[in-house]
Amino acid sequence: MVQKTTISVIKCDVGSSAGHHIVPKPLLDIAEQHLKKAQKQGTINSYYVFHAGDDLELLMAHEKGEGNSKIHKVAWDTFQDAAKKAMSLKLYGAGQDLLKTAFSGNVRGMGPGVAEMEIEERRADPIIVFAADKTSGSAFNYPLFRIFADPMNTAGLVIDPTLAGGFKFEVLDVMKNRKVVIKCPEEMYELIALIGTTERYLISRIWRAEDNLICAANSTTKLSLIAGKYVGKDDPVSIVRAQHGLPATGEILAPFMHSYFVEGWMRGSHWGPLMPVGLEYSKCTIFDGPPRMVALGLQISDGNIASDSHGTPLINDLFDDPAFDMARQEAMEYAAALRRMGEFEPARLGAETMEYTTLPQVLKKLRRRFKPA
Ligand code: 13P
Ligand code: 13P
Ligand code: MG
Ligand code: MG
Repeated sequence: MVQKTTISVIKCDVGSSAGHHIVPKPLLDIAEQHLKKAQKQGTINSYYVFHAGDDLELLMAHEKGEGNSKIHKVAWDTFQDAAKKAMSLKLYGAGQDLLKTAFSGNVRGMGPGVAEMEIEERRADPIIVFAADKTSGSAFNYPLFRIFADPMNTAGLVIDPTLAGGFKFEVLDVMKNRKVVIKCPEEMYELIALIGTTERYLISRIWRAEDNLICAANSTTKLSLIAGKYVGKDDPVSIVRAQHGLPATGEILAPFMHSYFVEGWMRGSHWGPLMPVGLEYSKCTIFDGPPRMVALGLQISDGNIASDSHGTPLINDLFDDPAFDMARQEAMEYAAALRRMGEFEPARLGAETMEYTTLPQVLKKLRRRFKPA
C-alpha cells in the first residue's frame, strides 16, 4: 500500500518582541512542548517549530489528511497557550491573529494561516517549506509562476520529458471568494493576466497536469476580510514538492536569486522588496522589514520528516547561503529607493488596497471640509 502522509504548516502571530520583530523564545518553547505532547500521543509523527519574523510556524507530518480537526486543534491550543504567555509578558500584539474565540474544528477563517498537502510518498519526497513575514499570500505568485511555468527558470520544463505535460494552477479570487484552474503552458498568458494582479488573485494549489500529482499548496488567509479591518498582514506559507518529474530543488530556489516586490512591509501598507534569509535573520527591522522569507528543505519518510538517530528532524536552512547575498543586496537597494518616496505611491499601496488599512479613518476627518470645486 502507498504511504499517505500529510504535511501541515499552521502559523499565527500570537505576540512579538519588540513590536512586530520576532517570536521570542518563551513562545517557541510553548509550541515545542505542545507538539512534543501531540507526537507522544500519536496525533502527529514529526514536527518542527520555527518562526518567520513575528509569526509562529508549526510544521507537522502526520497521517490524518488535510483539514483534520485533531491536527487543527493541536495548532489552535498551541496558539492559545502561546498567546496567554505573550499576554502575561505584555508582549506586543498578544494574540494578534486569533480573531475568533471558540474553536470550530478547523482554524481556517479564524485567523491562523494554513498550508496543507497530503501526498502519496514517492521513493524519495523532497519538500520545501517557504514562510514569509510582512507580506501576503500573493508573494508566492511570481516565484511559483517562474518555478512551474517559466521555461527560462526551470530547465526541466524544456529538457526533462517527465515535466513536459505542464502544470495546473488553482487561482483564488480573494475578493469574490471564487477559484479557477488554469493549465500551463497552454493558458500561460491567461494565468499571468490573473496572478499579475497580486492584490486580488492568489495561487492556492498546483498539480502536475498529466496525473494530478499535488506539487504546491499555499496559505490564502485574508485577515482584513475576516476581521473587517486591518489587524496585521497575511504572512504566508507555502509547501512545494521537488524532483522526479517536478522542478528540482535548485529550480525551485532559482527565482530567489533576485529580489522582487511584494505588498506588506510597514503597517501592511507598502510595496517592499522581498529578502530571502536564513533562519538566523528571520526577523524584521528597517521599516518593519524588508519583507523576509525563509526556505526549509526536508525529506518525507514513512509518515515522518526524515530525522537523525535522536529523532531530530533533518531541516536544511536553504537561504542560509552566500548564493542569496546578491538578492539581499538588491533588496536593500530597492528598499532605499522606495523609502525615499515616503508615503507617495508607488511606495505606498494603491488606494483600493489602502481601504483595508487605517488610512480611511484619517480621510474621514477631512470629508466634511471638501467643497464643490
Ligand atoms: P530528478 O529527475 O530526480 O528530479 O533529477 C533531476 C535533477 O536533480 C537535476 O539537477
Ligand atoms: P505583522 O502582520 O507581521 O504582525 O506586521 C504588522 C505591521 O503592521 C508591521 O508594520
Ligand atoms: Mg505582528
Ligand atoms: Mg508577521
